[in-house]
Amino acid sequence: MTVTVAALIWCRSRFNVVEPTSINLALSGDISMNISQELMNEHQLILKILSNTHAMLSQSGAIDNDKFFLLSQRFIEFVEEFADDYHHGKEEDILFEALSVPGVLTHCNPVNQMMSEHDMARAALGRMKEGIDKQARAEFMRGFNEYYQIMQQHIFKEDKILYPMAEQNIGDAEKRQIVFAYEKFESEKGRDLLWEKYRQLARDLLNATQLPSELSLESH
Ligand SMILES: [Fe+2]
Ligand SMILES: [Fe+2]
Repeated sequence: MTVTVAALIWCRSRFNVVEPTSINLALSGDISMNISQELMNEHQLILKILSNTHAMLSQSGAIDNDKFFLLSQRFIEFVEEFADDYHHGKEEDILFEALSVPGVLTHCNPVNQMMSEHDMARAALGRMKEGIDKQARAEFMRGFNEYYQIMQQHIFKEDKILYPMAEQNIGDAEKRQIVFAYEKFESEKGRDLLWEKYRQLARDLLNATQLPSELSLESH
């Protein structure tokens, strides 16, 4: 199924979607009922690392091969462990499952489109890994640019359309179950350690961009 941004905006208008503001949360009487804020926080870390990696790649001529591929390998690890296994895993196993229950989204369901975009991102990840295996910078960068574009558009659609639809159309009892399922998932994956590890990667990428001759890299 092909669904464009315009079609998703049409979906949004059909549902008269409202943003999950603090006023909505206060009215709900239970701040833990929000089922999209943590996913949006994860989007912000993903976007930060994508942006810092893009900046690093844009001046890769100043970075020697060893440093370039070490940073690139850590970026791949982030994509596999955080963006895909942790973030997309949580969406697919929990939120998308809840949105796919008959009757939750009766007029328009963009979940299949979101799933196909996860697969497109995984295909771009495969191309980046091939670039690293061949030690071919240009091939890695082509895969990265593809991944960057897919994820920027995908995150925009989720933040602005899918998550508000979920907040509006999933009932309170189901939201409680989703929050419990998130907490179990996050605890099994080691949420705090993952965040600490990848905040450090964001800083290291920034340092590589600002001080290419004084890279301070962690080995993993
Ligand atoms: Fe997603
Ligand atoms: Fe997402």
